[in-house]
Amino acid sequence: MITLGIDIGSRNTKIVFYDTSNQSILFSAWSATEVNPLQSVHSLLKQAKNSYGLDLPEEIACTGYGRKLWKGNSKVFSEITCHTTGVRYFMPEVRTIIDVGGQDAKIISLTPEGKIKDFVMNDKCAAGTGRFLEMVASRLEVSLDELSELALQSKNPLTISSTCVVFAESEIIGMIAKNTDPADIAYAAHISIAKRIITQLSAVDFTPPIVFTGGVAQNKNLVQCLSELLNTTIITPPNPEITGALGAAILISQTEEYN
Ligand SMILES: Nc1ncnc2c1ncn2[C@@H]1O[C@H](COP(=O)(O)OP(=O)(O)OP(=O)(O)O)[C@@H](O)[C@H]1O
Ligand SMILES: [Mg+2]
Repeated sequence: MITLGIDIGSRNTKIVFYDTSNQSILFSAWSATEVNPLQSVHSLLKQAKNSYGLDLPEEIACTGYGRKLWKGNSKVFSEITCHTTGVRYFMPEVRTIIDVGGQDAKIISLTPEGKIKDFVMNDKCAAGTGRFLEMVASRLEVSLDELSELALQSKNPLTISSTCVVFAESEIIGMIAKNTDPADIAYAAHISIAKRIITQLSAVDFTPPIVFTGGVAQNKNLVQCLSELLNTTIITPPNPEITGALGAAILISQTEEYN
């Protein structure tokens, strides 16, 4: 059976076509969530059709903040269960999951059997999320991909003391005005986000192995900062953007829906 998982996130929309007969990912793609999020879903579906001849399957499940927008026949699952299932597809032994997206940062703690034991979520505050990274990249006039490379060149570690994005932005403007090396600013931003994530992690009884997922986990320097501060290796899935959509695609055939 072929299933489709759709994750309509606050920032990006992701889809995954999954074959339950051999547990393989047939197609995955993501794009920015548009003002009309269903438009994003339809253009991703068009890509799946044009490049792989994949038609809309009967089994569809949605997750993410826009999970109730899909009007067709579909199941709805929480982001927590979807990310857990998607991450466990790559790493069944995971005990702690960090999912950082455009707006939310979530920590999920799992039992040795992979059941959800506890989770915490930030309270819709942009600090420690992709929104913070986007602000920094925009101020430094680099792409999100370039931000990680830039931070790796830092030679003079600095600190951004404000945790609020608005105040942190003023602090960065001040640093730029003093001709501070952009690499040092990028690195300071990563340390600031990593510390914020660690504060959130301490709210649960976290145990390694720790997997970092969500779009922000694409930033290699941030993953490295987190590993160094925690003194443990942080693992990232091969494609951290898609774990929520993948989890939804897998859960269709396994569980009762949950919303
Ligand atoms: N190359 C990259 N390096 C670092 N971060 C990136 C990169 N590409 C995207 N991001 C970040 O990933 C975020 C989007 O991630 P994701 O798709 O997981 O979020 P979302 O699911 O839409 O948000 P949420 O779960 O908060 O509703 C963007 O805000 C962006 O900052
Ligand atoms: Mg998300």
